[in-house]
Amino acid sequence: MKHFINFKNWNPDEITFLVDKSIEIKKEPTKYQTALNGKSLAMIFQKTSTRTRVSFEVAMTQLGGHAIYMDWITTQLKLADVGDEIKYLSRNVDCIMARLKRNADLMKMASASRVPVINGCDDKYHPCQAIADLMTIKEHKGKLKGRKLVYIGVHNNVCNSLIESCTMIGMQITTVTPIIHEPAKDPELLEKAKKTGLYKTTLDVKSAVQDADAVYTDTWIDMELFLDPKFQKEKEKRINLMTPYQINNELMKGSEALIMHDMPIHRGYEISGEMVESPNSVIYVQAENRLHSEKAILLRLLEKM
Ligand code: CP
Repeated sequence: MKHFINFKNWNPDEITFLVDKSIEIKKEPTKYQTALNGKSLAMIFQKTSTRTRVSFEVAMTQLGGHAIYMDWITTQLKLADVGDEIKYLSRNVDCIMARLKRNADLMKMASASRVPVINGCDDKYHPCQAIADLMTIKEHKGKLKGRKLVYIGVHNNVCNSLIESCTMIGMQITTVTPIIHEPAKDPELLEKAKKTGLYKTTLDVKSAVQDADAVYTDTWIDMELFLDPKFQKEKEKRINLMTPYQINNELMKGSEALIMHDMPIHRGYEISGEMVESPNSVIYVQAENRLHSEKAILLRLLEKM
């Protein structure tokens, strides 16, 4: 049995397989429509979500299975030991997807579970997003190996999963991240990525985007902190520091790179409105692709392909 927490226990061929299957499923959506008949997915949310919740729920429906939404606050997860709750839950469902505040709790879930556990985005990683992102680049650029992705923003969970997956499959990734979000720190992941020679980091944003195949940004403030009054001072500090790194017309002048963002978007902060709507923007396709790639992840973990 395999979990999908990050890419540490996955190899490059398995990542490529997930990306290619995601593209195939998108082209032939009915091929697997009964593959998960009688199967149930528990979807645990300790943080807010639009795409992760919708894509997993629709994916289960379209594969013939069933998804159960479980809000952290209105279940006993809020009161009880995470391991105990998962020991029970994994006797009633076939797979668990969890969006948690802390990776440590997700690891506890994985070790207590009898069924595969999927990371729906914690403080360190967002591997489901990375598969949809790679799928989107492959659809538009034909291949992944040798392509160059530039990530501009705060070094966070999304950034980690992009560094990890890109360097494993032979893509170049350059990050322009003046701020590192402390909980996302993973020195082991960065060390491994550096050894491939494919990962670079710089603050020279203009040079970084020159030969990019795709330019990617994300929110400067993680969802669980966005409206937190205790984070307001840090939020203002980040806006001041990050504003020169906004993806906008001036930065992207003369570039044909794909414009990417995992959403939700904060127009006028990490990206300008014109860039979201520009002909090179693949942001909404990228978001749509969460559905197709969630199907590939579920089918692989439940050993249906
Ligand atoms: N990109 C992403 O994970 O979207 P949600 O936060 O809406 O799930």
